[in-house]
Amino acid sequence: MIGVAVIGYGYWGPNLARSFSETDDCQVVAIADPSPAALARAGKRHPLARLLTDPAEVFKQPDIDAVAIATPVRTHYDLARAALRSGRHVLVEKPMTETSDQGVLLVEEAARRNLVLMAGHTFVYSPAVRKIQELVSAGDLGQIFYYDSTRINLGLFQRDVDVIWDLAVHDLSILEFVLRATPSAVSANGVSHVKGSPENMAQVTLYFEDCVAHLNVNWLAPVKIRQVLIGGSRKMIVYDDLEPSEKIKVYDRGINVAHGSEEIYRMLVSYRVGDMWAPQLATTEPLLTETSHFVSCIRDRITPITDGRLGLRVVEVLEAATRSMRQRGQPVELGRPRMAS
Ligand SMILES: NC(=O)c1ccc[n+]([C@@H]2O[C@H](COP(=O)([O-])OP(=O)(O)OC[C@H]3O[C@@H](n4cnc5c(N)ncnc54)[C@H](O)[C@@H]3O)[C@@H](O)[C@H]2O)c1
Repeated sequence: MIGVAVIGYGYWGPNLARSFSETDDCQVVAIADPSPAALARAGKRHPLARLLTDPAEVFKQPDIDAVAIATPVRTHYDLARAALRSGRHVLVEKPMTETSDQGVLLVEEAARRNLVLMAGHTFVYSPAVRKIQELVSAGDLGQIFYYDSTRINLGLFQRDVDVIWDLAVHDLSILEFVLRATPSAVSANGVSHVKGSPENMAQVTLYFEDCVAHLNVNWLAPVKIRQVLIGGSRKMIVYDDLEPSEKIKVYDRGINVAHGSEEIYRMLVSYRVGDMWAPQLATTEPLLTETSHFVSCIRDRITPITDGRLGLRVVEVLEAATRSMRQRGQPVELGRPRMAS
């Protein structure tokens, strides 16, 4: 039985604690949060867990094998490093760290101690994203031309991260997982409509070798939209995460381009309008798949799908997007990942 402590019991921590309590072969033995109100809520839902106001206590208790960190991003590095140094496996929420330098140090620390370090990129564990990955890797879509995402809603305005670090981070992990490729450059524009607050609206362009991704993220939108279009040479996908069923629709649509032999400069574009189908998706909860995967990785010594290296790569792209945004969209070259998987 793996003993887990959840650190941070604000908005997301309760979801992690509930999910771990439903995961086989593990038990939530402690919950840590400096807020007495948060601990009071935790005590009602997890009466058997020890409630700690000082997270440092977690790293001293012998029945805690692993920690899940769901605290503000600025605290991730210190907490994750302390957990690894005390010999605990770590699941740290997205984005893994505030800087890629911190990410490198965590990956190295975990490797040195032979501990599991996993980044909480929950979308990667959703049945919809897994199905998209399956279709893309089987070649069903043909060559991927573009990935176009709209992730907008009203709120929640964050104080320590901008909208790219809060929302585009999901697309960055999905792209890493689905395309198995990292962008060579990134360009980003963003604006803050609240003086002194981080950017609440942004557009990000990611340049890959053969395709392009556009991410439109916004906390100041009248409606909530979570929609991704993936255009391939053979098929196209519409992925609407808010659809209760049929989250993914695969369209046999596209264009065929031919060059007329007589009029050599005339391009002939014909349109292919075929069927649409909605693949059956598993109904498993992404977070439960994620926590179960974390426990299996610890038990069976497997590298997580969203391991520290993937978490680090996402942070590298986020950093480059921030640099580009400061220069009004000047493309920033990314170079090779600092620590390839
Ligand atoms: N995977 C997902 O889909 C998903 C969704 C939402 C949030 N998140 C991530 O979860 C993390 C937390 O976000 P949130 O919305 O729950 O924030 P939040 O502000 O609602 O909660 C953070 C909690 O951490 C506590 N805290 C602060 N410093 C601490 C410390 N040093 N030690 C222990 N506890 C501390 C606070 O008292 C608070 O209760 C962020 O990294 C966020 O990006 C992930």
